[in-house]
Formats: sequence, C-alpha cells, structure tokens
Amino acid sequence: MRKIVEAIRNSDKGVISYHTYINYALYDEDYGYYSKASNKIGKTGDYYTSSVMTPIFAEIIAEYFIKMTNEYNLPVHFYEVGSGTGDFAYFFLEQIKKLSAKLLDKIHYFSVEKSNYHRQLQKEKLGNFPVFFYEDISELPQINGVVFSNEWLDALPVHVVQQVNGELKEVVIGEKNGSLYERLMKLSNEDIITYRNEYFSSNIPNNHRLEIPLSMVSNLRELYQKIIRGIVITIDYGWTNAQLIHPSRHTGTLRGFYKHQLLNNILTRTGEMDITHDIHIDTIQTLGEAFQFTTRRVYKQYDFLYELGLLSKLTNHENSDPFSIVSKRNRAIRSLIMDDSISSAFFVLIQEKL
Ligand SMILES: C[S@@+](CC[C@H](N)C(=O)[O-])C[C@H]1O[C@@H](n2cnc3c(N)ncnc32)[C@H](O)[C@@H]1O
Repeated sequence: MRKIVEAIRNSDKGVISYHTYINYALYDEDYGYYSKASNKIGKTGDYYTSSVMTPIFAEIIAEYFIKMTNEYNLPVHFYEVGSGTGDFAYFFLEQIKKLSAKLLDKIHYFSVEKSNYHRQLQKEKLGNFPVFFYEDISELPQINGVVFSNEWLDALPVHVVQQVNGELKEVVIGEKNGSLYERLMKLSNEDIITYRNEYFSSNIPNNHRLEIPLSMVSNLRELYQKIIRGIVITIDYGWTNAQLIHPSRHTGTLRGFYKHQLLNNILTRTGEMDITHDIHIDTIQTLGEAFQFTTRRVYKQYDFLYELGLLSKLTNHENSDPFSIVSKRNRAIRSLIMDDSISSAFFVLIQEKL
C-alpha cells in the first residue's frame, strides 16, 4: 500500500490508473497478491477454478487434445498460459499417461506462469513429467500445437472508463491521508481511445462503466504472433460487447475474492485478495482474425464439456457412502454440468489456424 500511495503522490496529476493499481495489487514483487507464498486457489485459498476443483476438467481437455492433434496432424505440444498451481497440468498429464504411455513419451508441455510462487509449486508437482517452465510468453519458442488457458485473461490488469453525458472519462485513483478514492478524468490515454475505435464501437450508455483490457490485447498479440499452426482454447468468464453494455453491468465487472467472499470494492485489502473482471469475447475474436485465426466455436463451458462426453464419465455404483471416491467423482461431474454450476459462468472459445 505504501508503494501505491507514493506512486500517486509522485505522479504528475496526483492520480494513477486502475491498470497501475491492479498491476501493483496482483503482481508487485514484494506486495502483490500473486507474489506471496500463500494458497490462493482451492478450499484454503480465496477462490476455486475448474482446474483445481476436479481432475475431470483436465482429463476431458486431455482427450480433446489427443483428438484434435490426431485430426489435424499437429505436433503433440500443449502450451498452458497462466497455469497457476500446476494442478491442471498434473491431471492432464496423468490422463495422457493412463491412456497412452507412448504418447506421454512424445508430448511436450509448455507452462507459462508469471508468479514465482506458482512456478515453484508446479516444479514440485510436475517433476516426473516432460514440462518446460516459463515466466513470460515472450520466452516461448514458435508454437505448433494446442494453446490453452483457464482464467488467465481475467487476471490481467485493466483500465476503467465511464460514460458521462456523452463524454467518455477515465476512472482513476487518487489518495487522501493514505486512503484511496476514485476520480473521473478527461480521457487522454491514446491506447484507450484506439481500443474504443478498434474493438468497442457500441454506444456506451450514460453512467455505464467498462473495463479496457489493454494488457489482454498486448499479451494475445504476442501469443498469436508465435503460433505457426494450432488451436487456441480460451476458457474464462466474459461477454460480447452487446452484453457488456447491458444495464445489469452498468457498474462494470471488476471485483475481488477474499477467502471465498466476493468484494465489490477492489481498493480495499490491496495485495491480499484476487482481483478479476469479465473478458471481452468479441475483442479476442477480432484480434485472432488479424492473425489469420478463425473462430471454430464459442460455447458455454457446460455445453463444451457435455459435447466432449462429460456425462459418459459418470460411474454406476452401489456404494451408499457419499464420501467414497466414486460418489465424489460423480458429484464433481454433475457439478461441472449443472445450470447453476461453475460451468454456467464460463465461455470456451476455440480458435484455429490450421
Ligand atoms: C486466476 S489464476 C488461474 C490459474 C489456473 N489457470 C487455474 O485454472 O487454476 C491466473 C494465473 O495467471 C497468472 N498470470 C497472470 N498474468 C500472467 C502472464 N502475463 N503470463 C503468465 N501467467 C500469468 C497468475 O500469476 C495466476 O497464477
């Protein structure tokens, strides 16, 4: 927090952007949430992801990976970006081993994870598997294969704008006596103006707030540029432009998670909680098209998992113990496919350049 207050006091206009604030709160090497050595994902952390909740999620994607690399004669190279604790990679590679030890010998798993703490967890968990570890996309070699991310893009910093009587303003952060507060300022950031022109031409209603994902754009550009031939699977929560300006989202979608509690004010608990937002799905598709990708399909996560045969993984059994392994696994499968489950909030975007 001290660093943030200093940054605000030392800035020209006495304010910083939300982008700067989130970057500090999540990734500052001393104080950032993702830099700290504490559990973040799962029961003892702040939030769940499908990857950590159940092995079935990674197992299904592993089977899809085998199918797609066979069908399109792609190298068996899998690239996971924002790979977190390494649970997904572990369950994925265990499933490959179970299905074909021969394939495991050929596979290359490239894991890109910015957090030192998470990379360390991965190295401990994945020591017996053919995994290459990277801190940043820029370190990756040219890509031929399947690229995957689950809840990576929502963890990138964003700017925030608000429509005020026909003029788009930037929402910025000031400080008084060590407390942070929001201010509206004339929009002067050229990159935000370019984003609006290139990716978000819809009319933004009066008083409506919108996140501007400039980091997502630069990260995806860097990633797409590296892909020679491949399929990109992006899983996250997000909306189309038309959905993003729906009145139900007029306050924007930025939010925090602290010990499984949703906090709407992200200017509190700086560095102690996860900060996230909903993704602009149309932007990802437009960006992909500029790099010769076509959108194969956008699914709701439960439709995607259903199509990939999730229900066939249910096991008939007569064990009446609700805590038996088989009962737990069946419950996890159902929880991935129910209307009100974690899957209902997520989209799966499949892009291809083949
Ligand atoms: C919400 S977590 C999701 C983790 C994992 N994919 C899962 O499903 O459990 C987001 C992860 O992305 C990582 N991350 C954020 N920006 C990144 C970047 N530019 N490159 C690689 N990893 C990044 C964070 O450190 C964090 O571990």
